[in-house]
Amino acid sequence: MRSQSALVAAAVLWGGVLAAQVAGRQEHVHHAPAQARTLTSPLDLSDADLAAGQTTYEARCAGCHGRAGTGGVAPAAGRPAPADLTRPDLRTHTDGEIYWVIANGIPASGMPAATGLSDTARWQLVAWVRNLGGVKVAVRATDGGASYVWDLPPGFPRPKVPADNPMTPAKVELGRYLFYDTRLSVDGTFSCGTCHEQRLAFTDGKARSKGVTGDITPRSAMALHNVAYAPVLTWANPTVRRLETQALVPMFGEDPVELGLSGLEDTMLGRLAAEPRYPAMFAAAFPGDPKPISLANVTRAIASFERTLLSGRSAYDLYRTSADPKALSPAAMRGEDLFFSEKTGCFRCHGGFNFTETNDFVGKGFLEIEFHNTGLYNLDGRGTYPTPNTGVHAITDAPGDMGRFKAPSLRNIALTAPYMHDGSIATLAEVITHYEAGGRTVTDGPHKGVGSASPLKSEFVKGFELTDQDRADLVAFLESLTDHAFISDPRFADPWPKPKGK
Ligand code: HEC
Ligand code: HEC
Ligand code: HEC
Repeated sequence: MRSQSALVAAAVLWGGVLAAQVAGRQEHVHHAPAQARTLTSPLDLSDADLAAGQTTYEARCAGCHGRAGTGGVAPAAGRPAPADLTRPDLRTHTDGEIYWVIANGIPASGMPAATGLSDTARWQLVAWVRNLGGVKVAVRATDGGASYVWDLPPGFPRPKVPADNPMTPAKVELGRYLFYDTRLSVDGTFSCGTCHEQRLAFTDGKARSKGVTGDITPRSAMALHNVAYAPVLTWANPTVRRLETQALVPMFGEDPVELGLSGLEDTMLGRLAAEPRYPAMFAAAFPGDPKPISLANVTRAIASFERTLLSGRSAYDLYRTSADPKALSPAAMRGEDLFFSEKTGCFRCHGGFNFTETNDFVGKGFLEIEFHNTGLYNLDGRGTYPTPNTGVHAITDAPGDMGRFKAPSLRNIALTAPYMHDGSIATLAEVITHYEAGGRTVTDGPHKGVGSASPLKSEFVKGFELTDQDRADLVAFLESLTDHAFISDPRFADPWPKPKGK
């Protein structure tokens, strides 16, 4: 059992480091009395606690402090603005102080006491506020997957599963039907699988996707292989942490409309209940639930299916695990050396078993969630990206977050063109040219700018020189990461009989 003291120790450590960093700046007001400092959380925090904290936060606090916690507008003239809960100096406050402020409010400032919440709910909120502030809250490794038999590719760790949604074969199978079910769209023409096609590693081959009503998504549909290991979802939203929650976005999102179900939750559930297969499937997936056909269960089943989309049987994996030198071409082997070299530095952000550093799994010590600016745009010499695709900045409004995106897994990358968050690079060779130049130069049009001169780009995107041979080798290596078994695996395919009697 994860000890409470570990959480407190982590908070103290961060507090200490940041207190040192902010020393010299104006001392921040501590609203809570001294004795509140030593209160500690009674929770053995799990993913479910964090998710509950987020839900309460979004219902009760986000209206003033913003979804990302970055603050808001003063409630009345002369009153202080809702505090930025992500400020570094807030990290010098203990969990106890934050708990006290939540429980008692700050009447003089218009910060209300959170009445009507259980003690557990308040501590869950504390954990979420910490999480918003970038403090890596120690979360107990939940064991929801312990009894599930994973079909893990060689060398893959066990995915973490939220305690409130354990894996079962019945749930995974139901999730597969739902993932490919067009009843999940307003007019019965779209499913998750419309934009996430198995043959393309669950992308759609487009720069940006078209939703059911013709809206164009601002960003490119993402591959879903190994999404079970993603600690943070979508291109650049640090607050989307659970597959269960993410699934609600395409279903109910209005900007852009993807599946168009906003306001139609009951209609959708009614349609599902009318499909002869579903009552028994939902009952098997959620035994003991008196009303198994519910929105929460739909998202649980879809998330469970997504967690089984494991891909790690490419030519490169075969070569690595069988030590059979014939499994990989000499060109790909030379490309591998380049990929892992200090010169290109690709491995810095795309390293590890899933070719992205941003991952989490059972037994992972310290969770590192990183977003990077690769110098793709520099509209004004100050590193600005075109709106609305300003990366993490779009969520936090923090100037330093401009252009920072999640480094995607490079597995199956040959299947997922066009590339980057907005599909603005057509081929792998051109992606390499972008990194060679240490950032992309756009010579004309509204996005004109010299990415390599961006003051915001990562120190690891510094540019380098390659020969034609090197470039071809690097592409050969990236192509060797394609897992052909994955894209033809019947367990991940559309289970609905075709043609569908509509
Ligand atoms: C009506 C708007 C409003 C709501 C709702 C609200 N707050 Fe606040 N909050 C404020 C204001 C204003 C301050 C700034 C007080 C100050 O600095 O004097 C504040 C301060 C805080 C602080 C202290 C920050 C610091 O600098 O010490 C925390 C923590 C906090 N709020 C958390 C929450 C949480 C969690 C919720 C939801 C349960 C919440 N707030 C709901 C307006 C609000
Ligand atoms: C209209 C096309 C479209 C549909 C339909 C769609 N998606 Fe997506 N999906 C996207 C786009 C675009 C993104 C990138 C989101 C972003 O960053 O803005 C995405 C991202 C994701 C991600 C994040 C992956 C990662 O690595 O972070 C998941 C998970 C996902 N979708 C699952 C689903 C599920 C489940 C459904 C059905 C309920 C669904 N999608 C329906 C287009 C779509
Ligand atoms: C500083 C971290 C970093 C380094 C170093 C880095 N990348 Fe990336 N990579 C990213 C990020 C972040 C993205 C997404 C950027 C965006 O969409 O704006 C990305 C995107 C990509 C993509 C497109 C992925 C997709 O799904 O569209 C490819 C291919 C790629 N990188 C290959 C490489 C190669 C090859 C190297 C070495 C030459 C490299 N990267 C070095 C962070 C990095």
